[in-house]
Amino acid sequence: MINIGVLASGRGTNLQAIIEAIEDGKIEGEIKMVISDHPKACALKRAQQYYIETRYIDFKEFKNREDYDKEIIKTLKEKKIDLVVLAGYMRILSPYFIKAYQNKIMNIHPALLPSFPGLHAQKQAVEAGVKVSGCTVHFVDEGVDSGPIILQKAVEVSDDDTEESLTEKILIEEHQIYPLAIQLFSESRLIIQGKRVFIK
Ligand code: GRF
Repeated sequence: MINIGVLASGRGTNLQAIIEAIEDGKIEGEIKMVISDHPKACALKRAQQYYIETRYIDFKEFKNREDYDKEIIKTLKEKKIDLVVLAGYMRILSPYFIKAYQNKIMNIHPALLPSFPGLHAQKQAVEAGVKVSGCTVHFVDEGVDSGPIILQKAVEVSDDDTEESLTEKILIEEHQIYPLAIQLFSESRLIIQGKRVFIK
């Protein structure tokens, strides 16, 4: 059983998928805490519905990113968190945070990395005219969407796809691969060698 801490800024559908996977016995872990930088994030409401502890931490109360992250880390340490899951968390983590949880932070990105990192990945994909896009679960390093790739799932981009329709298609796959990656982590099956992640 691993202790999971989730950071989320928005609607929290990935959080929901992870909660459901835990309830279905597909992940041997427990979400000990959901933290948000937005007081009204839907993700917080979703967590509360399942009696998961939540915390809103206001960025404005801190001098800089590192101090803010220190406060988050304090909370995560108190809860003995083994894995930090970013689920639509819209802040870049400080190097201090990455070091504190080296190879223990995961993120999901709505494109097949290394294509289309950063914001509006689905829009970038539609505008680039790619025929295939998808989603990527990766460990978080100090770059933006640049850490070792754990799992990816492709979806076709059809002629009538828009940013919105592609987002919907990709989201369905996100909800499959994120819980799976977390389960693999909980079973200690993810071996990182440089940029590559091997699944035992
Ligand atoms: C997802 O598209 C994810 O790939 C990206 O942020 C979005 C979060 O959606 N990192 P949700 O809050 O989980 O619904």
